[in-house]
Amino acid sequence: MLLYIPVLVAAWFIYRWYKERERVSNIEDKYVYITGCDSGFGNNLAKHLDKLGFRVIAGCYTEKGEDELKKASSKRLTSVPLDVSNSESVKKAADVVKNLVGEKGLWAVVNNAGVAIPSGPSDWIDIEGYKSMLGVNLTGVIDVTLSVLQLIKKAKGRVVNVASVFGRISPFGGPYCVSKYGVEAFNDSLRVNMAPFGVKVLCIEPGFFKTTVTNTELLRNSFRNLFSKLPQDVKDDYGPEFLQKLIDQLDQKFRLLTDNDLMKVVGCMEHAVSAVHPRFRYSPGWDAKLFWLPMSYMPTYITDKCFLIDYPKPRASVL
Ligand SMILES: NC(=O)c1ccc[n+]([C@@H]2O[C@H](COP(=O)([O-])OP(=O)(O)OC[C@H]3O[C@@H](n4cnc5c(N)ncnc54)[C@H](OP(=O)(O)O)[C@@H]3O)[C@@H](O)[C@H]2O)c1
Repeated sequence: MLLYIPVLVAAWFIYRWYKERERVSNIEDKYVYITGCDSGFGNNLAKHLDKLGFRVIAGCYTEKGEDELKKASSKRLTSVPLDVSNSESVKKAADVVKNLVGEKGLWAVVNNAGVAIPSGPSDWIDIEGYKSMLGVNLTGVIDVTLSVLQLIKKAKGRVVNVASVFGRISPFGGPYCVSKYGVEAFNDSLRVNMAPFGVKVLCIEPGFFKTTVTNTELLRNSFRNLFSKLPQDVKDDYGPEFLQKLIDQLDQKFRLLTDNDLMKVVGCMEHAVSAVHPRFRYSPGWDAKLFWLPMSYMPTYITDKCFLIDYPKPRASVL
């Protein structure tokens, strides 16, 4: 009797693998609009989809990023300047998208642009710091999506949102996890609202990968910069030893956790865009699958205890 269980599990995996292999047809007629294509996942996805034959519309934050991407891609790829935190820029880019796709509509938007600075303990960052990151990572995602949603409905296409495992669990302070929890909520409500229109809404939740977002030098500088600007009473509560330990731990943990293979994430993005039966959620990275996601289902008192075990002690700690 017990033998049936592994057989059924194996059969289910084979069925899923078979079902998920099927790809959409006529990709040469399908437009995919990607934000944040200057570097990292977005840049790799733009080049990858371009090679596969999709019509990529690459939103680039800088002129340099745009030029370099164009040099590395085919003539099919169109680039457009885009600052997702600026509604005027989002509108202008949406006009370009509308003119390009015409009556066919837009097959997919991939909300990829994101930032991780400023990062640090929650009370080191002022409200402007929170607003600036939310403006890119959260309201940027919403603004870009709304700007092209009618075009996506026309094509019965897809919205692919790049959140993070830190949209499921929040082990550090600052606006990053706040923004990614927001993306998850937007993603989940949009998925239900768009289902009647035949639009699929898919979410990518990567673990740690080596890109600018996980650049330890930038994060170290962010910690130092935030600490130096703290009011004296807050600085005294933490003490300089706290800052040093935070920096040391950042280096150790990122060395252990960060994966260099960006294609693990890009492969999931490509599947979300091109599979006939995409998954609702993708969790690329061994740390996401084996550590962060299981942790996110644990009771709060266990996760808090785990995170506090090696969290540096502020000078005024009562623990
Ligand atoms: N790397 C990871 O471990 C990881 C894990 C989970 C989730 N993510 C998410 O994955 C997404 C892609 O990040 P990444 O890791 O590939 O890092 P990345 O290389 O820094 O890519 C982010 C991209 O967004 C662009 N960007 C920044 N501000 C923008 C703005 N206001 N408007 C438009 N574009 C803007 C950046 O342009 P510039 O390069 O010109 O600044 C860059 O091209 C982000 O949403 C990030 O939160 C990353």
